[in-house]
Amino acid sequence: MKTYKIPEILAYPGAINQLLMVSKRYNAKRVLIFSDLGVSKAGIVDLISDLFKEKQVETLVESSIDKEPSTSFIESITQRLENYDPNLIIAVGGGTPIDAAKAISICLKTKKTVHDFFTPDNCTKKGIPIIAIPTTAGTGSEVTPISVLTDNRDSIKKAIVSPFIIPDTAILDANLTLKMPPHVTAFSGMDALTHAIESYTSPKANDFTKMFSLKAIKLISENLKVVVNEGNNYDARNGMLLGSLYAGIGFSNAGVAAVHALAYPVGGLFDVPHGMANTLLLPYVMEFNLDKCNDTYKIIAEKMLKKSNVSAQDAIEFVKRLALDCGVDDTLKTVGIPENKLAFMAKEACSISRLMDNNPKTISTSEAEMIYKRAYNSRAQI
Ligand SMILES: NC(=O)c1ccc[n+]([C@@H]2O[C@H](COP(=O)([O-])OP(=O)(O)OC[C@H]3O[C@@H](n4cnc5c(N)ncnc54)[C@H](O)[C@@H]3O)[C@@H](O)[C@H]2O)c1
Ligand SMILES: [Fe+2]
Repeated sequence: MKTYKIPEILAYPGAINQLLMVSKRYNAKRVLIFSDLGVSKAGIVDLISDLFKEKQVETLVESSIDKEPSTSFIESITQRLENYDPNLIIAVGGGTPIDAAKAISICLKTKKTVHDFFTPDNCTKKGIPIIAIPTTAGTGSEVTPISVLTDNRDSIKKAIVSPFIIPDTAILDANLTLKMPPHVTAFSGMDALTHAIESYTSPKANDFTKMFSLKAIKLISENLKVVVNEGNNYDARNGMLLGSLYAGIGFSNAGVAAVHALAYPVGGLFDVPHGMANTLLLPYVMEFNLDKCNDTYKIIAEKMLKKSNVSAQDAIEFVKRLALDCGVDDTLKTVGIPENKLAFMAKEACSISRLMDNNPKTISTSEAEMIYKRAYNSRAQI
């Protein structure tokens, strides 16, 4: 067994108040507080920058990004930040700002262009230290060696994968997630559930990763519906934040698989949010995998339903029901994917071997197209 480094993790109510102390340990002099527009509008960026007021630490806030990150964005922002030359990055938000911060960190440090890093061996040294503060409960990016970016040259989502971009410290304070809107809560939560399921069934899974993935499945199954309907429920928000963290540790080491590979063209070509794309595809990939996953889906269903008298199929039904209970009743068709693009997307998805190789069952291009067609036509019904 080989695992990626797990960052220092502070996870408790009020953990955010340790930010200044943690920053000082990184010898913070010029701090880049990197976030996005929605997180800024929610007042979270002010709350963070206020912690540095009158503390003789220079800060610069950059929160202009308003959609999932692309290579063009990283190129322009890196150019703009070159003069500021931060020696610490505080990434505040969901996967969007945390992933962008990881790319900025290595681009600023190495002066290389972002495209260089899609080739794993090109990332040979650590970037600027990062403190990651998640405000969604979804991607687990605060602990993963991954930065997902849409490549503007071909509109395909690609990942930088390197131990050198793992954040140094992750500060998880569920208070920061209380204002997350219901639809973001639902999508990001379903993303975390997808991470947990795909990492649990991955051929790379081992006892270490399975422990995290299963705990994540339990926490997310207990809490996702609650937080979508009662955003202010602190305990349920905390359960989701820990669930997404554990899923992040699980999938950092065991990988994610076909749901993610099929979701990448949906997001890259049509701007469908990552969590939504996963939500629309997850049950149909599970149906495809069912004959290879009888035992693992049964264990997953036991955690989801908290009883032992269950079948593998129950895990699929649970996932469909959960999406509906969280208000997601869309299909690929209703989110605007043209049916005549499905064959092209299937080809693109199957070329992402980094993800497809982790699927418990091999998927051919025609099978991938068939899964897309199921997700195009079906509305998850029970
Ligand atoms: N690095 C990884 O390991 C990894 C894993 C999965 C997904 N991703 C990537 O992460 C991105 C998606 O991240 P995400 O699902 O966290 O969503 P996100 O970061 O894109 O945020 C979605 C929206 O919610 C808003 N928001 C976030 N937190 C809020 C809060 N507390 N209150 C109010 N509004 C808030 C944001 O402003 C944004 O408008 C995608 O680009 C995806 O590819 C990365
Ligand atoms: Fe994901």
